[in-house]
Amino acid sequence: MIICPSMLSADPTKLGQELLALESAGADRVHWDVMDGNYVENITFGSYVVAAHKKLTPLPFDVHLMVDNPDRHIENFASAGADLLIVHPEMCTHLHRTLCKIKNFGKKTGVALNPATPIEIISYCIEMLDVVLIMTVNPGSSGQKFIDSQLKKIYVLREILPSHIKIYVDGGINPSTLKQCLENGANGCVTGAFLFGSGNYADAINALKNI
Ligand code: DX5
Ligand code: ZN
Repeated sequence: MIICPSMLSADPTKLGQELLALESAGADRVHWDVMDGNYVENITFGSYVVAAHKKLTPLPFDVHLMVDNPDRHIENFASAGADLLIVHPEMCTHLHRTLCKIKNFGKKTGVALNPATPIEIISYCIEMLDVVLIMTVNPGSSGQKFIDSQLKKIYVLREILPSHIKIYVDGGINPSTLKQCLENGANGCVTGAFLFGSGNYADAINALKNI
Protein backbone atom coordinates (compact mmCIF):
# COMPACT_ATOMS: atom_id res chain seq x y z
CA MET A 1 0.00 0.00 0.00
CA ILE A 2 1.62 3.19 -1.20
CA ILE A 3 0.74 6.31 0.81
CA CYS A 4 1.04 9.65 -0.97
CA PRO A 5 0.27 12.68 1.22
CA SER A 6 -1.08 15.66 -0.71
CA MET A 7 0.79 18.90 -0.01
CA LEU A 8 -2.47 20.74 -0.74
CA SER A 9 -3.57 19.98 2.82
CA ALA A 10 -0.19 20.78 4.41
CA ASP A 11 0.35 24.06 6.29
CA PRO A 12 1.27 26.43 3.44
CA THR A 13 3.37 28.60 5.77
CA LYS A 14 5.79 25.73 6.43
CA LEU A 15 5.80 23.32 3.50
CA GLY A 16 9.47 22.36 4.02
CA GLN A 17 8.92 21.32 7.63
CA GLU A 18 5.78 19.45 6.65
CA LEU A 19 7.73 17.52 4.04
CA LEU A 20 10.35 16.43 6.57
CA ALA A 21 7.61 15.44 9.02
CA LEU A 22 5.92 13.32 6.35
CA GLU A 23 9.21 11.63 5.53
CA SER A 24 9.82 10.63 9.14
CA ALA A 25 6.19 9.56 9.54
CA GLY A 26 6.63 6.95 6.79
CA ALA A 27 5.13 8.52 3.66
CA ASP A 28 6.10 6.67 0.48
CA ARG A 29 5.74 9.50 -2.04
CA VAL A 30 4.66 13.16 -2.07
CA HIS A 31 1.64 14.30 -4.09
CA TRP A 32 1.66 17.87 -5.45
CA ASP A 33 -1.77 19.06 -6.59
CA VAL A 34 -1.03 21.61 -9.29
CA MET A 35 -4.10 23.75 -10.08
CA ASP A 36 -4.16 26.64 -12.53
CA GLY A 37 -7.43 28.46 -11.75
CA ASN A 38 -8.84 27.41 -15.16
CA TYR A 39 -9.29 23.65 -15.23
CA VAL A 40 -10.29 23.98 -11.58
CA GLU A 41 -10.99 27.12 -9.58
CA ASN A 42 -8.03 27.06 -7.22
CA ILE A 43 -4.46 28.07 -7.97
CA THR A 44 -1.83 26.15 -6.03
CA PHE A 45 1.80 25.23 -6.68
CA GLY A 46 4.04 26.08 -9.60
CA SER A 47 7.23 24.36 -10.71
CA TYR A 48 9.42 26.77 -8.68
CA VAL A 49 7.79 25.61 -5.48
CA VAL A 50 8.17 21.95 -6.43
CA ALA A 51 11.84 22.44 -7.41
CA ALA A 52 12.65 24.24 -4.16
CA HIS A 53 11.26 21.37 -2.09
CA LYS A 54 12.84 18.62 -4.16
CA LYS A 55 16.17 19.37 -2.48
CA LEU A 56 14.76 18.67 0.97
CA THR A 57 13.76 15.03 0.69
CA PRO A 58 14.57 11.82 -1.18
CA LEU A 59 10.85 10.97 -1.38
CA PRO A 60 9.61 10.65 -4.98
CA PHE A 61 7.45 13.54 -6.17
CA ASP A 62 4.15 12.94 -7.98
CA VAL A 63 2.83 15.98 -9.82
CA HIS A 64 -0.92 15.91 -10.46
CA LEU A 65 -1.56 18.43 -13.24
CA MET A 66 -5.08 19.85 -12.90
CA VAL A 67 -4.45 22.43 -15.59
CA ASP A 68 -5.53 23.42 -19.08
CA ASN A 69 -3.08 22.26 -21.73
CA PRO A 70 -0.89 20.06 -19.51
CA ASP A 71 1.61 19.58 -22.36
CA ARG A 72 2.75 23.12 -21.83
CA HIS A 73 3.83 22.40 -18.24
CA ILE A 74 5.48 18.99 -18.57
CA GLU A 75 9.01 20.22 -19.24
CA ASN A 76 8.98 22.67 -16.31
CA PHE A 77 7.76 20.11 -13.81
CA ALA A 78 10.06 17.41 -15.18
CA SER A 79 12.99 19.80 -14.66
CA ALA A 80 11.64 20.71 -11.22
CA GLY A 81 12.12 17.10 -10.13
CA ALA A 82 8.78 15.39 -10.68
CA ASP A 83 9.25 11.62 -10.76
CA LEU A 84 5.70 10.88 -11.92
CA LEU A 85 3.57 13.27 -13.98
CA ILE A 86 -0.20 12.71 -13.91
CA VAL A 87 -2.43 14.28 -16.57
CA HIS A 88 -6.19 14.41 -17.08
CA PRO A 89 -6.87 12.80 -20.49
CA GLU A 90 -9.76 15.16 -21.37
CA MET A 91 -7.28 18.03 -21.31
CA CYS A 92 -4.78 16.38 -23.67
CA THR A 93 -5.51 16.96 -27.35
CA HIS A 94 -3.20 14.05 -28.20
CA LEU A 95 -3.01 11.89 -25.07
CA HIS A 96 -0.60 9.35 -26.56
CA ARG A 97 1.77 12.13 -27.59
CA THR A 98 1.56 13.70 -24.12
CA LEU A 99 2.47 10.39 -22.48
CA CYS A 100 5.38 9.98 -24.93
CA LYS A 101 6.57 13.45 -23.98
CA ILE A 102 6.57 12.56 -20.27
CA LYS A 103 8.49 9.35 -21.01
CA ASN A 104 11.01 11.23 -23.14
CA PHE A 105 11.89 13.28 -20.06
CA GLY A 106 12.62 9.99 -18.29
CA LYS A 107 9.60 10.31 -15.98
CA LYS A 108 6.84 7.92 -14.99
CA THR A 109 3.42 8.50 -16.52
CA GLY A 110 0.01 8.71 -14.91
CA VAL A 111 -3.52 9.50 -16.03
CA ALA A 112 -6.22 10.76 -13.68
CA LEU A 113 -9.78 9.62 -14.36
CA ASN A 114 -12.46 11.97 -13.05
CA PRO A 115 -15.59 10.43 -11.52
CA ALA A 116 -17.51 10.91 -14.80
CA THR A 117 -14.65 9.88 -17.11
CA PRO A 118 -14.99 6.39 -18.58
CA ILE A 119 -12.12 3.91 -18.53
CA GLU A 120 -12.27 3.64 -22.34
CA ILE A 121 -10.42 6.94 -22.72
CA ILE A 122 -7.15 5.13 -21.92
CA SER A 123 -7.86 1.89 -23.79
CA TYR A 124 -5.27 2.48 -26.48
CA CYS A 125 -2.59 4.02 -24.24
CA ILE A 126 -2.33 1.35 -21.60
CA GLU A 127 1.16 0.31 -22.66
CA MET A 128 2.32 3.88 -22.00
CA LEU A 129 1.15 3.99 -18.38
CA ASP A 130 2.76 3.49 -14.99
CA VAL A 131 -0.13 4.72 -12.83
CA VAL A 132 -3.87 5.29 -13.14
CA LEU A 133 -5.20 7.75 -10.56
CA ILE A 134 -8.87 7.18 -9.89
CA MET A 135 -10.42 10.44 -8.75
CA THR A 136 -12.80 9.48 -5.95
CA VAL A 137 -13.89 13.13 -5.73
CA ASN A 138 -14.19 15.77 -8.42
CA PRO A 139 -10.85 17.57 -8.78
CA GLY A 140 -10.34 20.99 -7.24
CA SER A 141 -10.10 20.87 -3.47
CA SER A 142 -9.39 18.69 -0.47
CA GLY A 143 -11.87 17.59 2.17
CA GLN A 144 -14.62 16.38 -0.18
CA LYS A 145 -16.77 13.29 0.29
CA PHE A 146 -15.68 10.01 -1.30
CA ILE A 147 -17.82 9.02 -4.32
CA ASP A 148 -18.82 5.36 -3.93
CA SER A 149 -19.53 4.75 -7.62
CA GLN A 150 -15.79 4.83 -8.30
CA LEU A 151 -15.29 1.49 -6.54
CA LYS A 152 -16.65 -0.31 -9.57
CA LYS A 153 -14.25 1.60 -11.80
CA ILE A 154 -11.32 0.45 -9.65
CA TYR A 155 -12.52 -3.14 -9.87
CA VAL A 156 -13.00 -3.11 -13.64
CA LEU A 157 -9.65 -1.39 -14.21
CA ARG A 158 -7.77 -3.87 -12.04
CA GLU A 159 -9.18 -6.66 -14.20
CA ILE A 160 -7.98 -4.96 -17.38
CA LEU A 161 -4.61 -3.50 -16.41
CA PRO A 162 -1.38 -5.48 -16.34
CA SER A 163 -0.24 -5.93 -12.73
CA HIS A 164 2.79 -3.61 -13.05
CA ILE A 165 0.47 -0.61 -13.58
CA LYS A 166 -0.50 0.83 -10.21
CA ILE A 167 -3.97 2.08 -9.34
CA TYR A 168 -3.98 4.99 -6.90
CA VAL A 169 -7.10 6.59 -5.47
CA ASP A 170 -7.38 10.32 -4.79
CA GLY A 171 -10.03 12.12 -2.76
CA GLY A 172 -11.97 11.51 0.43
CA ILE A 173 -9.64 8.76 1.59
CA ASN A 174 -9.73 7.56 5.21
CA PRO A 175 -9.28 4.05 6.65
CA SER A 176 -12.87 3.09 5.86
CA THR A 177 -12.96 4.32 2.25
CA LEU A 178 -9.45 3.03 1.61
CA LYS A 179 -10.48 -0.44 2.78
CA GLN A 180 -13.16 -0.52 0.11
CA CYS A 181 -10.70 0.70 -2.53
CA LEU A 182 -8.22 -2.02 -1.57
CA GLU A 183 -10.89 -4.69 -1.74
CA ASN A 184 -11.54 -3.58 -5.30
CA GLY A 185 -7.87 -3.62 -6.32
CA ALA A 186 -6.24 -0.26 -5.52
CA ASN A 187 -2.50 -0.24 -4.82
CA GLY A 188 -2.01 3.18 -3.29
CA CYS A 189 -3.75 6.32 -2.14
CA VAL A 190 -3.44 10.07 -1.92
CA THR A 191 -4.36 11.45 1.47
CA GLY A 192 -5.10 15.06 2.38
CA ALA A 193 -7.72 16.01 4.95
CA PHE A 194 -7.56 12.69 6.83
CA LEU A 195 -3.79 12.73 7.32
CA PHE A 196 -3.27 16.43 7.97
CA GLY A 197 -6.29 16.64 10.26
CA SER A 198 -5.18 13.63 12.28
CA GLY A 199 -2.83 15.33 14.72
CA ASN A 200 -0.25 12.55 14.35
CA TYR A 201 1.11 11.83 10.86
CA ALA A 202 2.85 8.56 11.78
CA ASP A 203 -0.26 7.12 13.41
CA ALA A 204 -2.44 8.20 10.48
CA ILE A 205 -0.06 6.70 7.91
CA ASN A 206 0.11 3.47 9.90
CA ALA A 207 -3.67 3.38 10.13
CA LEU A 208 -3.86 3.52 6.32
CA LYS A 209 -0.99 1.06 5.80
CA ASN A 210 -2.36 -1.52 8.22
CA ILE A 211 -5.73 -1.98 6.59
C1 DX5 B 1 -8.36 16.94 -5.36
C2 DX5 B 1 -6.91 16.54 -5.21
C3 DX5 B 1 -6.63 15.64 -4.07
C4 DX5 B 1 -7.03 16.15 -2.73
C5 DX5 B 1 -7.10 15.02 -1.76
O1 DX5 B 1 -8.48 17.76 -6.44
O2 DX5 B 1 -6.48 15.90 -6.38
O3 DX5 B 1 -5.27 15.24 -4.09
O4 DX5 B 1 -6.18 17.14 -2.26
O5 DX5 B 1 -7.50 15.54 -0.54
P1 DX5 B 1 -8.51 14.77 0.42
O6 DX5 B 1 -7.80 13.52 0.88
O7 DX5 B 1 -8.71 15.78 1.51
O8 DX5 B 1 -9.76 14.48 -0.35
ZN1 ZN C 1 -4.42 14.97 -6.46
